[in-house]
Amino acid sequence: RLHPVILSGGSGTRLWPMSRADLPKQLLPLLGPTSLLQETATRVTDAALFAPPLVVCNEDHRFLVAEQLRAIGVQPSAIVLEPVGRNTAPAVAVAAAIIARTDPGGVMLVLPSDHHIADLAAFHAAVARAAAAAAEGRFALFGIKPTGPDSGYGYIVQGAAAGLEGVFKVDRFVEKPPRAEAEALLATGHGWWNSGIFVLRCDQYLAEIERLQPAVAAAAAAAVAAGGGDLDFLRLGRDAFAASPSISIDHAVMEHTGDAVVVPVEMTWSDLGSWQALWEITAKDGDGNAFSGDVVALDSRDCYVRGDKRLVALLGVEGISVVDTDDALIVMARERSQDVRRIVDLLAARK
Ligand code: GDD
Ligand code: MG
Repeated sequence: RLHPVILSGGSGTRLWPMSRADLPKQLLPLLGPTSLLQETATRVTDAALFAPPLVVCNEDHRFLVAEQLRAIGVQPSAIVLEPVGRNTAPAVAVAAAIIARTDPGGVMLVLPSDHHIADLAAFHAAVARAAAAAAEGRFALFGIKPTGPDSGYGYIVQGAAAGLEGVFKVDRFVEKPPRAEAEALLATGHGWWNSGIFVLRCDQYLAEIERLQPAVAAAAAAAVAAGGGDLDFLRLGRDAFAASPSISIDHAVMEHTGDAVVVPVEMTWSDLGSWQALWEITAKDGDGNAFSGDVVALDSRDCYVRGDKRLVALLGVEGISVVDTDDALIVMARERSQDVRRIVDLLAARK
């Protein structure tokens, strides 16, 4: 069985004002009654395929995470608490070290907690292919068909067949290239977006992170050794973990390893990173509007409105997003939604 590792430590600043430090996007019910974390955990509940998940999150969110899992009947193998965020490479190293204590050659399915996947059967089929490659010692990535040269993703250039059905070598991996480079990568005709989901063997990830980022490996090992458990929670040694460089698994490993393979997958997949992404996947009315809450609109097109606090009315506007919460309201050009993090930075500077 695969060991799901759910990464739930991001801050989701582009979804301000709904996503906040104390309630980040993965813990919000952005697409219906359950949160993105709950959606993610629900994807790996088939006990024939998956061991109980290991969740890695910030210690401030431990009770929310535990309660959200309990509410959907998921019993995690552990909830690992990071004293500070050090991005995904150390988070996965810590998970690998913990799983390796009982299953050293175990295969992890690393899952971001900010994705929407509509087609579960396609997802499971791709995971099975990736697991076969991981068992042979590869780091398996999933290739998503790009819709354009978006610089918010990692890019995978597919190489030759890797000897297993539907699995190919990775010629190049480039994390979040500038737009022009993304265009060039797509022009090769073999470019995919990296889904951010990985299938890898614990022992192999630990060996590769040791080779490529020894300071991350050392900090993760020391943090696990200095940590301890209470209830479902597994704390990490604070100073040891804080000493890790902050770096993503993409930059730390995937850009440099010779062991990566890609499994191209056709499925409806979305990184729910911005209000624009939410507008894109929400069903729209005949005028291209996607509204939730109490909204009236006249002569308005291609807008996104979200709010359940009060009535929102639109008149004669086009291509804007409005997100209304108890204490903050944002009105923005819809296509500027990547820049919402700059508003959050401005607010932080004001404090
Ligand atoms: N535990 C933990 N600790 N989790 C973290 C941390 C951390 O410090 N930082 C981020 N995460 C979690 C996030 O909550 C998210 O679920 C996942 O790790 C990925 O982090 P993001 O910050 O959302 O990454 P990204 O979207 O910019 O880029 C990644 O995903 C893209 C696809 O969505 C990369 O893998 C890209 O290559 C990829 O295209
Ligand atoms: Mg993301």
